[in-house]
Amino acid sequence: MQVYLNGNFVAEESAAISIDDRGFLFADGVYEVVHVYGRTLFEWDLHMARLQESLRGIELPVVDLAQLHNVAEHLVSGLGESEDEASLYLQITRGAHRRSHGFPPLGSTEPTILMWVRPTVAISQQTIEEGVSMISVPDDRWAKVWIKTVGLLPNVLAKHKAQQAGAFDAIFIRDGMVTEATSANLFIVKDGVLHTAPITNYILPGITRQVVLEIAATNGLPIDLKPFSYEDLLAADEAFLTGTLTEVLPIREVDGHLVRQASGPIARQLLTELHRRAGKSGK
Ligand code: PDD
Repeated sequence: MQVYLNGNFVAEESAAISIDDRGFLFADGVYEVVHVYGRTLFEWDLHMARLQESLRGIELPVVDLAQLHNVAEHLVSGLGESEDEASLYLQITRGAHRRSHGFPPLGSTEPTILMWVRPTVAISQQTIEEGVSMISVPDDRWAKVWIKTVGLLPNVLAKHKAQQAGAFDAIFIRDGMVTEATSANLFIVKDGVLHTAPITNYILPGITRQVVLEIAATNGLPIDLKPFSYEDLLAADEAFLTGTLTEVLPIREVDGHLVRQASGPIARQLLTELHRRAGKSGK
């Protein structure tokens, strides 16, 4: 497989990053994951807008978005005939410089830019119908969660804890309120109203979250963007995750408490509409 690294398309096996890369040493970098349906980069412009915000958040100069788009299209064109779903990964770090916490002197290094596209397997119909099980964990992440940084250790540890408990994923709880999952946002439905946490510095502004809210508004579903508690989550009629690779994924149980409707009508409707918007047929 060919990947893009710092201006070149190279074989995956020969792509190499410096031991001085600040992404490696300090998690000094940001990333995006884009879902590729067919040959289409889903909501590319929204992802690029968020990338620019993340770059602003870590004080890295804005990149050439047109160039990134060309690279993305080139990588997507390399997908095989039968590979109709894929994920695109883009990571930009502050580049390589001898280890020192402060930024490298201006002009002394170029950002490291890595991009690849890999085929993915769609979430099975059975998983969607059954819903997934979740555990809750304290949200011990930093106060700039809105930056999509590669510093994901709290997320990694929470996901591992969930997997050890036999669950699919973990839900972060901050001061008794639900923020999000380790790599997805979280919605609940109560009495026909859709609830998800408002965007603050403690939430990643998910592209799928945004798209789902747009779909809900178009379909006349009432929306309430106020913080909701762990107890509200347990008392919900439906609960589901949203994310680039997760799409709209129903939640069956939280900490062993069953959600009233494991795979309820609103989650199903939103998933169908999301697929329609992505041009995905057959579901
Ligand atoms: N994660 N919250 C967190 C913490 C995330 O990492 C993600 C995405 C989301 C959902 O955002 P979006 O709808 O834009 O994918 C919410 C990506 C997919 C990842 O880390 O792989």
